[in-house]
Amino acid sequence: MITSEEIRKEFLNFFEKRGHKIVESSSLIPEDDPSVLITTAGMQQFKKYFTREKDPIKDFGTQRTASIQKCFRTTDIEEVGDERHLTFFEMLGNFSFGPVGSDNPQDFSTSGYFKKSAIYWAYEFLKSLNLNIDYVSVFKGEDNIPFDEESFNIWKELNFSEEKIKKFGKEDNFWGPTGEEGPCGPTTEIYIDRIEVWNLVFNEYYKTKDGKLTKLKYPGVDTGMGFERLMKVLQKTETVFETDLFEPLRTRILEIVPNIEIRDLRIILDHIRGATFLIADGIYPSNLERGYVLRRILRRLMLKLNKYNLVKDIENFVKSVVEKFEQIYPNLRNYDKINKVIKKEFDGFHNILKKGLTMFEKYIKGNEEDREIGEKLFILFTSFGLPLDISKELLREKIGKEFTETMQETFDLLFENHRKISKSL
Ligand code: ALA
Repeated sequence: MITSEEIRKEFLNFFEKRGHKIVESSSLIPEDDPSVLITTAGMQQFKKYFTREKDPIKDFGTQRTASIQKCFRTTDIEEVGDERHLTFFEMLGNFSFGPVGSDNPQDFSTSGYFKKSAIYWAYEFLKSLNLNIDYVSVFKGEDNIPFDEESFNIWKELNFSEEKIKKFGKEDNFWGPTGEEGPCGPTTEIYIDRIEVWNLVFNEYYKTKDGKLTKLKYPGVDTGMGFERLMKVLQKTETVFETDLFEPLRTRILEIVPNIEIRDLRIILDHIRGATFLIADGIYPSNLERGYVLRRILRRLMLKLNKYNLVKDIENFVKSVVEKFEQIYPNLRNYDKINKVIKKEFDGFHNILKKGLTMFEKYIKGNEEDREIGEKLFILFTSFGLPLDISKELLREKIGKEFTETMQETFDLLFENHRKISKSL
């Protein structure tokens, strides 16, 4: 079976041969993009090359780059536990900046390229791995942005029938920008085994803070392929969590708790990886911004580890992540620090969790109306410090209930009143 280590090499070699400079992943703390808290896409470290504020030739000796980027998406924290959501993931991408040369897939030079080369190369790379594309999608045109006929025709040239080239609107096939402003454009997406594996963005526009689109001087290419998803279709696993990207951690957990609930296992796998990478890149748990993201996943992680009496094993688990990735990300070797940060946060949360769990069980019967549950969760939060994230998990675990909008509204209303009262005191 082909391993993720082999695929890393294959991908980078494929694009290096085609004139791309291989650039290392940037940190999860964005260096060149103050508009977002955490790095969420491969293009972020290259934003200024798309806008010409930086010169790719000067920095890379070519207009083409490729990378495997560490990413973290905070919007997905609560979704983690299902078959596909992840917070931390890696994205394989190739990029083109500045004036387009020939846009000929046979051109292995260093000049800029556009839709034809980007689509042909994605197609060829997947073919070299013996993967069959189910179907693709292109931008159908919406809000005065035209239908991407060029991409449509390129896929036809590659012998895709019209039924296999789906046309979607802005919601699905227009990407970006990250944060409040930046390059963005129509996309074409590639689906394998009904999973969107690769997103090819054609950055033709710049969106400003007021929401207006202007044409970029030169169009660019920004592609992103989810590494875990690619490995899932290659290794033919049931979900991303059985791919080798989660080994040896997964095996170690299963050795200790063979009957762990699948949802809990996924949360533990995701959050340990996520926390390890965030801390290695210099983030500390706090109540603010990035630090708060880390705090949330560490607390959710502790809740799940605690359920299976695994809190004591955390060092060993972090080590499993480090073992898998240290060759690629040497800053993970700073593993004493990572463990210290996690341990400190766990120690700080220990009593809150213990008390909170007892109070939750005493207080919430499970037969209350949603509004009443919202009130009770608010009290657990204000009186015992039990975070809402944790209560949501407990609702599901202890009484089999999903957190609803009504509960959220009640919680928010009480929170707002509480805030006003505290302020006026
Ligand atoms: N920037 C694009 C994405 O994140 C490729 O999907």
